[in-house]
Amino acid sequence: MTVPGSAPVLVGTRAELADELAAARAAGARVGFVPTMGALHEGHAALMAEARRRVGPEGRVVVSVFVNPLQFGPHEDLDRYPRTLPADLEVCGAEGVDVVFAPAVEEVYPRGVPWEAGADVTVEPGSLATVLEGRTRPGHFRGVLTVVAKLFGLVRPDVAVFGQKDYQQLVLIRRMVADLCLPIEIVGAETVREADGLSLSSRNRYLDAVQREQARALSRTLFAARAAAVEGPVAALHAARAELRAAEGVDLDYLELTDVDLAALPADVPPGTEARLLIAAKVGTTRLIDNLPLVLGAAPDAVPDATDATDLTGAR
Ligand code: PAF
Repeated sequence: MTVPGSAPVLVGTRAELADELAAARAAGARVGFVPTMGALHEGHAALMAEARRRVGPEGRVVVSVFVNPLQFGPHEDLDRYPRTLPADLEVCGAEGVDVVFAPAVEEVYPRGVPWEAGADVTVEPGSLATVLEGRTRPGHFRGVLTVVAKLFGLVRPDVAVFGQKDYQQLVLIRRMVADLCLPIEIVGAETVREADGLSLSSRNRYLDAVQREQARALSRTLFAARAAAVEGPVAALHAARAELRAAEGVDLDYLELTDVDLAALPADVPPGTEARLLIAAKVGTTRLIDNLPLVLGAAPDAVPDATDATDLTGAR
């Protein structure tokens, strides 16, 4: 483990990454991996801390910083997405990360970015990628799964940590790892929130002061639903919609209550059913997402402790 506070090794090519990890692998050290697009914040730091817990002090923690063009749509924020490598290295250093892999686009896509489906080998995420985020962002999860599969191939981690904040992404990665028989443990780590409930996101930096205040409506909506979930799904959604009606400056994309695998809930939900409430909305021009676990028809203290990292283990 790199002593927290010292600089991690920064590598930009596949060959450098392989060299850097060869000795660790030969010594039998476990490799923990946190894929990111940079613009790192405390939420990412929590993922790194979780990776360290999983591999122990003798293991190696690798963080990738790569703004993946393939997961951005033509009218999305690829060009203005924040690129802050020097500050990112500091966050990684403070968490005792051993290696930061920050490749150029050509290093990840040597034959060019396969914008057209069918132009090159990519990962087809299936029908779960056409709902929720996928409805508004067609092609997004093809881009995410393709780059994550490539990064898994390059880093060959034992364990990879993703945030529950991007819950649909987490479910799809868990599915990819299971369906493609990849021997990687997938861990879903708790969403880190500001004191007022707003979930941390690299995109929060686009919000001005008024929008920052308006953005609180997303987490308020989720927590109102969670408090009402004891009465069942109808009450939970009713409470959520009441919050949204009172919200200003929030342009709702979706509010959906699903089972934990993002499938539709049965019409008759048995008390104690674990569910997920997901929300996406634009505040100004910034698209924000958030979600929360709920237990339907059960007392609020029966809600699983969201502070525990959820183990979503794939094939092993
Ligand atoms: O969650 C993210 O930051 C990205 O979608 C990921 C997983 C790093 C793939 O580019």
